[in-house]
Amino acid sequence: MKQPKKGIKWETLGFGFSDVNCHIRFTWKDGKWSGPKFVKDPYINMHIGAACLHYGQECFEGIKAFRQKSGKIVIFRPDENARRMYRTAERTCMPPVPVKMFLDACKAVVKRNAEYVPPYGTGGSMYLRPLLIGTGPQIGVAPAKEYTFMIMVMPVGAYYKGGMKPVRAVIFDDWDRAAPHGMGDVKVGGNYAASLFAHEKAKHDGWPVELYLDAKSHKFVEEFATSNFAGISRSGAYVTPDSKSILPSVTNMTLRQCAEDLGIKVERRPVPYSEIKRFKAVAALGTAVVITPVWEITRGKDVIRISDPDVVHPTLQKLYDTVQGIQYGTIKDVHKWCLEVK
Ligand SMILES: Cc1ncc(COP(=O)(O)O)c(C=O)c1O
Repeated sequence: MKQPKKGIKWETLGFGFSDVNCHIRFTWKDGKWSGPKFVKDPYINMHIGAACLHYGQECFEGIKAFRQKSGKIVIFRPDENARRMYRTAERTCMPPVPVKMFLDACKAVVKRNAEYVPPYGTGGSMYLRPLLIGTGPQIGVAPAKEYTFMIMVMPVGAYYKGGMKPVRAVIFDDWDRAAPHGMGDVKVGGNYAASLFAHEKAKHDGWPVELYLDAKSHKFVEEFATSNFAGISRSGAYVTPDSKSILPSVTNMTLRQCAEDLGIKVERRPVPYSEIKRFKAVAALGTAVVITPVWEITRGKDVIRISDPDVVHPTLQKLYDTVQGIQYGTIKDVHKWCLEVK
């Protein structure tokens, strides 16, 4: 496998687009998927009437690949993302990408760009962004007749340059993200369009993340705009909401298993807003950062202080270290979550 490219400042990389060798691309037409193409050009030429542009027929995923201590390159749980994208495609009337084709594509595109997987020890990783879009022209509202599936990749830096840093969160009662029988449980771009306005307001007012309550009653915790929610209860349990309108996060699934392996009780159930003040710790969970501790949550005049701003609960720290250890190959991967790129 190729060694990391010389001349890149891996330690200062952020989370953003950068040019690599290529992305991988497939097209679906007349009921079948084409073979792969490796494309250097990051621009897509498509019909002005493409269904993804007009009716939002699109979905995506987010995955990470790691260069491990041994030198191996692995992709973390891409099978779960493949299955999630399959469900999203079905929900949005797009042809699902078969799981094997998805996994082979992930491996192939990482391999072609192996020199962009950051070196072990820098805390960096390669971010994979699979994207499925309706590219056939469609003027009346209906599913497209042609689709494009792509995976772009880019090196990204360590999120925490030194230790986990707790953040403040906000709840707005004026905007919801996902309706009870809507599309909150699948990964479509429209969900993010729905959250942008609140997100920009939160950022402007000094909160890096916003938390959503259930759209129907505003009584139960759902999830953050781009990550799941977990709290550590007074008895030490890992508590995470059970709801049909939140995204089934691969990170949350991983952390629940790690918690169980560490002998921590896991509770997946409705979480009332009123319970937040009793948690000893709260965290946002997702692929990009794994765990972001949240030390304070504001809802109008209600300000819930969960912990001191610079204190990370030991359970969150332990879970974070465990997941990162498995990803970077310093802790045994007993559940076989890492898919090696050979
Ligand atoms: C709305 C939402 N919830 C949760 C997550 C976390 O999911 P995962 O752990 O699979 O990255 C994400 C990120 O993809 C997200 O966008």
